[in-house]
Amino acid sequence: MTPIRHALLLFASLLLLGGLALGGQQGRKPRGLRAELGKAPGAASGRANPFAGQPEAVLAGKKLFLRHCAECHGQDGQGQGKAPNLRSPLVQGAPPEALVRFLKDGNLRRGMPAWSHLPEERLWQIVSYLQSTEQ
Ligand code: HEC
Repeated sequence: MTPIRHALLLFASLLLLGGLALGGQQGRKPRGLRAELGKAPGAASGRANPFAGQPEAVLAGKKLFLRHCAECHGQDGQGQGKAPNLRSPLVQGAPPEALVRFLKDGNLRRGMPAWSHLPEERLWQIVSYLQSTEQ
């Protein structure tokens, strides 16, 4: 084999290996709420829930939850089937802003719809309810 050919072959295998490594990394990328929690907060970073401590918001959130979410997550939010328990430490301890972002995106591949069509205010209300003791 000529040195040039040899170099080309080496180059090609390096490309292939690099591609495989990248592919593998993408496969391991966390998805869902965990992925959202791991993200560096964006422009809206650290935004506190504008409805924090407002009982009316919790009540509004409860209505929204029963209308949109309970069919999968259960009336009490404790989860059923593939839909996880929302009383979990993961959800209860998540920054409200990360939850709002997750709700907007959903995780369709795993069966969680996106809620970007709901006004953001509603999402904050739902999160107020999720993280309240009302549930
Ligand atoms: C069609 C069924 C369905 C509906 C309706 C639904 N969810 Fe989900 N939800 C899921 C599934 C399935 C998952 C798991 C997705 C995953 O693995 O990332 C999930 C995940 C979540 C999570 C992340 C929990 C975790 O432990 O990772 C939150 C928070 C959540 N849903 C909130 C809501 C809220 C709030 C609503 C209503 C606005 C809602 N969901 C409506 C099915 C649903």
